[in-house]
Amino acid sequence: MKHTELIKKLNLEQKCALLSGETVFTTRDFSEKGIPAITLSDGPNGVRKQAGAADHLGLNPSVPATCFPTSATVANSWDPALGEAIGEALGEEAAAQEVAVLLGPGLNIKRSPLCGRNFEYFSEDPFLSGKMAAGYVRGIQKNGIAACPKHFAANSQELRRMASDSILDERTLRELYLTGFEIVVKEAKPRTIMSSYNLINGTYANENEHLLKDILRRDWGFDGAVVTDWGGSNDHALGVKNGSTLEMPFPGGDAIRELKAAVEHGKISEADVDARLDELLELVLTTHAAVEKAPRTFDAEAHHALARRAAAESVVLLQNEGGLLPLKAGERVAVVGDFARTPRYQGAGSSAVNSIKVDSVLEQLAESGLQSVGFAPGFDRQGRPDDARKAEAVALARKADTVLLFLGLDEIKESEGIDRSDMKLAVNQLDLLEAISQVNPNVVVVLSAGASLETPWLKNCRALVYGALGGQAGAGAMLDVLTGKVCPSGKLAETWANAYHETPARAHFGGEGRTVEYRESLYVGYRYHQTAGIPAAFPFGYGLSYTSFEYRDLKAGPAGVTLTVTNTGSVAGAEIVQLYVAKPDAKIFRPAQELKGFARVFLNPGESREVTIPLDDKAFRYWNVRTNHWEVEGGCYELRVGASCEDIRLRAVITVEGTAAPNPYEGKDLLHYQTAEVRKITDAEFEALLGRPIPESKIKIDRNMTLGELSHGRSPLGWAASAVLGRLLRKSMENGKPDLNILFQYNMPLRALAKMTNGAVSMGMVDGIVMEAQGFWIIGLLRVAYEAIKNVILNAQLEKRLHQAERTKENPA
Ligand code: BGC
Repeated sequence: MKHTELIKKLNLEQKCALLSGETVFTTRDFSEKGIPAITLSDGPNGVRKQAGAADHLGLNPSVPATCFPTSATVANSWDPALGEAIGEALGEEAAAQEVAVLLGPGLNIKRSPLCGRNFEYFSEDPFLSGKMAAGYVRGIQKNGIAACPKHFAANSQELRRMASDSILDERTLRELYLTGFEIVVKEAKPRTIMSSYNLINGTYANENEHLLKDILRRDWGFDGAVVTDWGGSNDHALGVKNGSTLEMPFPGGDAIRELKAAVEHGKISEADVDARLDELLELVLTTHAAVEKAPRTFDAEAHHALARRAAAESVVLLQNEGGLLPLKAGERVAVVGDFARTPRYQGAGSSAVNSIKVDSVLEQLAESGLQSVGFAPGFDRQGRPDDARKAEAVALARKADTVLLFLGLDEIKESEGIDRSDMKLAVNQLDLLEAISQVNPNVVVVLSAGASLETPWLKNCRALVYGALGGQAGAGAMLDVLTGKVCPSGKLAETWANAYHETPARAHFGGEGRTVEYRESLYVGYRYHQTAGIPAAFPFGYGLSYTSFEYRDLKAGPAGVTLTVTNTGSVAGAEIVQLYVAKPDAKIFRPAQELKGFARVFLNPGESREVTIPLDDKAFRYWNVRTNHWEVEGGCYELRVGASCEDIRLRAVITVEGTAAPNPYEGKDLLHYQTAEVRKITDAEFEALLGRPIPESKIKIDRNMTLGELSHGRSPLGWAASAVLGRLLRKSMENGKPDLNILFQYNMPLRALAKMTNGAVSMGMVDGIVMEAQGFWIIGLLRVAYEAIKNVILNAQLEKRLHQAERTKENPA
């Protein structure tokens, strides 16, 4: 322990008090003891520090900050160094605003294209996610503050996000859902990590000994602070025992009393509390010192320029028939689509930044060298049909050489707190596209969306450019790409399926009950499409360029590959070279191939470069559930080097020595895991994979019933509350603006009432509400009233004691 002396100066109650927040975004202040409070703030694509009343959903405005492209966008650059540069700028802005812990980046696996927060996450692939996240973390922490990679782990949907139980086998957990975190922890050493809201195989992530102690702390050597997601603590004492350091936001006296009682009754030991406190003190003292010495200003123009470069590097050119792009100087363009005037450049929720400024295509057009014949919004953003707007846009399109049509998802489609219901663009936008394509074939569709879409309408445009959610400077970046000032080089960090029903998690995403079965196991994204032979509209790693690249002279070995890449076209540009590992003769089922390395290479026309892509300890390993170890199947492996997962240009076969571990699946019938026919996986097969019966999914009336589920309870009050919430939710959807409060409350378990109300509600009161929902109407209400009075009295006494202890020690009589 590093802070033994300091810890000795605190009594048990004070120690317990330090292990939860004092306000929504600050830790507890004990400056008399030399322990200052520090501020934690979101988030991944810009600092969201709330100056006035703080809330964790971004409801109240925050201090203006640079809004960088979201992680889903920057992932398309496949450039961890760019991530690092963004991270450094984020760290600077954070420290300038006296923020000691920046709550990001988010690196959950995009299990389904419908997860409402996919725009905040990097990829469907753990290797790419981990490498990108490591870049961000290195950057953020450069000046001594802390990054907080989140949400650890297996947290890939918003429905019932605080109460859903992710059911998955250990191999899938390790190989797919944890490997990105492993990379970021080992390679970038984040000072904190955020545990996720959900349960994993029946135990909350935040109190999961296996996850936090065995894997994170023991196996990966993490010695920083684990921070709960906001309101994500269930049993605080168990959390502390099992490796969770700081409960956020401000649960009040109840959580302190709970922890203290747990020590006094022997549920946990004081040594557990001390161990966590030591981690907390290390975090608080080091990051506070870093913030103290950091400048209070930053170069907003330089950060805007970086945001623009990041957005430009991340643009993916998906289609370019007949080389319609780049546009020539002076080309007469019609600019159509509401997003050209009011960009969609970030997602909604806790990551939403109060941007310093926001560029729009319309404003930036003058500098682009293009000649505009006019602008028409073309459609109603909320999807309502509008024939007049459509007609105006079509008339405008007739007058131009080329139509720049800005389409995308509207605000409600991508938000924390709610998953998408489909992968479609709004019908009114597609009607407009069709109508325009009939009067002018030269249509360039520019897409703003933080997640993949179905594109059956591709035939109606000659070019398709995907800018994702490009941040505050995204508009200028997009024009740079459209005009050829920047050669597009982004490649998709997620598969774009032809249709949602062809995505692997479909049958077990979201769900009605408590559990979410990760039946598809390793077959997420391209791992599924390629193994099952289901073609994608745009495969993982795909992206076109204005130039072309040739790959040759592959030299390969277990330590990596070397090859020569030449820019054979006429403009300078970057190529993202991808290295996949395959074992066609594998005895142990595995995806057809997996990404294990990549390199981004910038080349002038005619230039060649020798590129080396190393392979590390993750290249050949698989998690063996029998030995409980990483093992390597010995024999031949194919190393495949390509421009996307489908466009493999060079291959080599190498021999790798194995670890001779027994086949963990010997004697088990896992036929559909062999073939990746995920829809045919039977209960028996999933149970064989899990190694235990499939847990029951039934909703129970307990502390973890969500407010939205109160309709399943036995209390008229609960039914009414759930009905009102449901109505408000539907209303906010109709308005087209996500109401984050309602979304949060709908998915919030009763227990979180005690965690999110600044101490006003205690767990005792929650238990009263549970009794009420169970049908004990009178006793339930009486219990709530009794516990409420008790809570007020105990809270007042506790706060007094905490400070009294202070005063007595300072002035002994
Ligand atoms: C989100 C986190 C965020 C936190 C604080 C939670 O609801 O899941 O990502 O960092 O709020 O705003």
